[in-house]
Amino acid sequence: MILIKLGGSIITDKTQYRTFNRGAVRRLCKEIKDSGIDAVIVHGGGSFGHVLAKEHSLQNGYTEPSQIPAAAKVQYDMRELNLMVISELLDAGMPAVSVPPGSCFMMDDGKLILDDPEVLLSASRLGLTPVVFGDVVFDRRKGFGICSGDQIMEVLCRIYDPEKAVFVSDVDGLFDKDPKKNPGSKLLPEVTWDLLKTVSSDISVDDVTGGVGAKMESMLRMTSSKRDCVLVNGSVEGRLYSLLKGDKVISTTAKGGSK
Ligand code: ATP
Ligand code: IPE
Repeated sequence: MILIKLGGSIITDKTQYRTFNRGAVRRLCKEIKDSGIDAVIVHGGGSFGHVLAKEHSLQNGYTEPSQIPAAAKVQYDMRELNLMVISELLDAGMPAVSVPPGSCFMMDDGKLILDDPEVLLSASRLGLTPVVFGDVVFDRRKGFGICSGDQIMEVLCRIYDPEKAVFVSDVDGLFDKDPKKNPGSKLLPEVTWDLLKTVSSDISVDDVTGGVGAKMESMLRMTSSKRDCVLVNGSVEGRLYSLLKGDKVISTTAKGGSK
């Protein structure tokens, strides 16, 4: 099984509130289907999540009553985004089912708790494709918080022990500097904890869950002796398909056993 996260930067336009990149999502769903792999899918929030979450500081937990309508609206927006992703997966021929974290998971001081994986495992056992996403999730200490798709990837990795974890974004991989602002930046084909300390990764668009640096840390934590984690560019046609088929493609890999 391969765990795949479709990042908010590829499934939405992160600079425009609630803008869905239907064309890219349609193509990526087809690439996943055509690869023939067994997948569990996670997606991010992009402009359906981060814009309002940032405006109302939802990532810091409950501090004032004015946040409550915003928390409800972000949950609503995320469900709309999730249904659009599910619709594209169904059209591509994948039996996708929604597993909304805000209704089935809890957090404890920002840490995602998933005591009972029965719902997820039951879906997979039946041959359904669970689709989980970044969401507003209730928090035992903070009232609520924002759970990122990357946090979900880490928890699902423990539940499913996948052979590979793939993060699909809109960049070729990790660079020594943000490639969108620094044309001469160099792609790093492999990342290690030591290398990550030297990388510059400012967040230029609204992102309440940490950007590419936090993603790399998640990837490094998710590796095991038999599992690599890969960051790949989903805006290049066919690249995700080739990676899933086992070909070597332009990307950044956190290699199994990286410390
Ligand atoms: P996630 O959605 O899980 O956050 P994402 O697809 O939205 O995934 P981002 O967290 O937005 O991805 O990370 C990708 C963005 O990070 C790129 O669009 C890029 O401009 C920016 N970035 C900043 N610094 C770097 C860097 N050193 N290497 C690669 N990308 C970088
Ligand atoms: C964010 O999830 C979810 C919300 C803001 C509600 P992610 O942090 O995984 O989203 P992206 O992939 O960075 O957009």
